[in-house]
Amino acid sequence: ARITLRQLLDHAAEFSYGVPAFNINNMEQLLAIMAAAQSVDAPVIVQASRGARSYAGDIMLAKMVEAAEAMYPGIPICLHQDHGNDEATCFSAVQMGFTSVMMDGSLEADAKTPASYDYNVAVTARVTSLAHKLGVSVEGELGVLGSLETGKGEAEDGHGTDATLSHDQLLTDPDQAVAFVEATGVDALAIAMGTSHGAYKFSRQPDGEILAMSVVQAINARLPDLHLVMHGSSSVPEDLQALFNRYGGKMPATWGVPIEEIQRGIQYGVRKVNIDTDCRLAMAVEFRRVATQNPAEFDPRKFLKPSMDALSALCRNRFEAFGTAGRA
Ligand code: G3H
Ligand code: 13P
Ligand code: NA
Ligand code: ZN
Repeated sequence: ARITLRQLLDHAAEFSYGVPAFNINNMEQLLAIMAAAQSVDAPVIVQASRGARSYAGDIMLAKMVEAAEAMYPGIPICLHQDHGNDEATCFSAVQMGFTSVMMDGSLEADAKTPASYDYNVAVTARVTSLAHKLGVSVEGELGVLGSLETGKGEAEDGHGTDATLSHDQLLTDPDQAVAFVEATGVDALAIAMGTSHGAYKFSRQPDGEILAMSVVQAINARLPDLHLVMHGSSSVPEDLQALFNRYGGKMPATWGVPIEEIQRGIQYGVRKVNIDTDCRLAMAVEFRRVATQNPAEFDPRKFLKPSMDALSALCRNRFEAFGTAGRA
């Protein structure tokens, strides 16, 4: 059954758990996530980026999620637009049946330039006002994601901003968060706290200097009822890095967000935890393993089936770690 982000995160807040939001681009990812959810009785957030929508096609994506609902009638599914860059992206998602949209106004619509606070408020408030009339939830973002180690903010094309940003720009300001939520009416807020997208978040095991969990606590102290969203929440597990490299991959040593830190965040109001990189890595390890161990293989299913099993195992682990298991 389809559920909005608001309904799901209100329930998560009531029972003090977090919900992983997994990115989907294709049937195999969706099937693997649903199988994991069913196995532990967890509600699901699947999210599609603009890239995912153009990769699969809007109709294919929407119909796949309809199929997943029919296959798993007991599992609530929230279909969320990840990083909507403007109103058109958000509203076309609503037309396709998404029950939640992220209006990422932390960057200008060109997705390369950090936006002004006023631009962010205005565009997010416009999206929220229409989305709410249509029964759709909205996630906003305040603060620029990026590395406290290098001072590079993250432009949406995956490249760092040219200018080095200050800690003030890279960490969401709690007072500004209060004003932003009041002015926009968002259902959930993504905050900047030193995480960034992709595999290369930290050059060492993160501590409070480079992963600012204190920001979560400070915002939660001011806004105890707000649902917080952590982007860039892949853990980039060491064992997956090692397997990827064992089967011929080239991934320099890197650190992600430790599961225990996410669990700490959940105690302080984090309700949605965005994970894409770990899912990609889990599948890619299996592609490489099959290619290496069975070089004569050319049936795509022989690559995709073990990839789905690996992704399912990862999703199950996150459902259990975040307390989502048993909540469907
Ligand atoms: O926000 C980034 C997500 O991992 C989606 O990535 O834009 O390559 O689909 P993508
Ligand atoms: P990761 O790259 O850490 O998986 O983050 C995904 C994300 O935040 C999608 O919006
Ligand atoms: Na999102
Ligand atoms: Zn993100």
